[in-house]
Amino acid sequence: MTVHETDQDPSHRVEAASKAFEQEFERFARFTRDPNGLVGLTLDEALSDERSLADLRTRHLGKKSPLSATKKLIGKVPSDQRAAFGQRVQSTEAGFVAQLDAAESTLKQYIELQRTARESIDVTLPGRRPRRGHRHPITLVRERIEDIFVALGYAIEDGREIETDFYNFTALNIPDNHPARGTQDTFYTTDGFALRSQTSTVQIHAMQRRGVPVRMIAPGRVFRRDTPDPTHNPMFFQVEGLCVDRGITMAHLKGTVAEFLRRMFGPDTVTRFRPSYFPFTEPSAEFDFSCFKCKGMGCRICKNSGWIELGGSGMVHPNVLRTVGVDSQEYSGFAFGLGIDRMAALMYNLDDIRLLFENDVRFLEQFE
Ligand code: FA5
Repeated sequence: MTVHETDQDPSHRVEAASKAFEQEFERFARFTRDPNGLVGLTLDEALSDERSLADLRTRHLGKKSPLSATKKLIGKVPSDQRAAFGQRVQSTEAGFVAQLDAAESTLKQYIELQRTARESIDVTLPGRRPRRGHRHPITLVRERIEDIFVALGYAIEDGREIETDFYNFTALNIPDNHPARGTQDTFYTTDGFALRSQTSTVQIHAMQRRGVPVRMIAPGRVFRRDTPDPTHNPMFFQVEGLCVDRGITMAHLKGTVAEFLRRMFGPDTVTRFRPSYFPFTEPSAEFDFSCFKCKGMGCRICKNSGWIELGGSGMVHPNVLRTVGVDSQEYSGFAFGLGIDRMAALMYNLDDIRLLFENDVRFLEQFE
């Protein structure tokens, strides 16, 4: 028998197809043979093996496979050998199918398990708590101030942060070239507008809109060309107060502010009331509180005086009342303007108001 004849021998061809299959299938055989055959295989590797296995099935069982070719030989085999040969082809094919099916089903189960593991949630793990925002300390202090004054019968006014020269200075009895414009130098735009340097602007707006009698407070942001230090910032917050009615005196002013400070900081807070000057009040006074750092002993923060200025106040100047068309013979009133940032420093024991605007979460999250 020649080599050529051997190649053509149908039995040999079945055997060759079988050998080729066994050789290629070897690496998948371990999946079914060894219970740990798949251990360590990643999901991606298992998916890739699944594809290779499908290709292998096509190559060895498909229409163009060597085994399929042997089926065409069945009719050509001598009739006495035909049945045996046919059976051999069939059983070889059944063997391929059984092995492929077993490997495929093991692989599919493994893939399913891996997928479930990847997508599963460990319900016993502690949850990730969402970081909730909270109000800024300035807002907390502002709300507390508002609560106290609302309880005293005051309305709350909102003001503008960009103002005209008239509201920020002229209407407040600070004419052009008055030295008070210098101490409250602010940020001007080219069109005659300026960032307000004090909340006193709202006194004018409130009286123009509401008329008198009036009792209101106006908390808000103000701006000045001030050099930053532990008690100064170029942007800070004030709360303005205004009370105009018949028969209002300095005693009402002192009583109101003292009651406010008592409710705000408790009965033990040491405050003082001393004469001062503001162009829009006459007479004028300032409120100080005992330094939040040294408690009155004298330190760098209070410039060794033991006191920190909280705000200005006084009886509304007749020129201001006249500007808004109020008869200063019939009506009188008091006004005050207090620094909210410094109140926050006192309340929360801060030794520098600039901390409030550095936006350091480690600092801010303490006020939740
Ligand atoms: C005024 O601004 C007046 N409008 C207050 C007033 C209102 C007086 C009504 C009379 C009647 P003064 O410039 O002193 O006053 O500022 C008031 C308060 O704002 C100060 O006492 C202080 O607590 C706070 N303050 C002033 N400048 C700064 C700053 N740069 N940074 C933080 N707080 C400041």
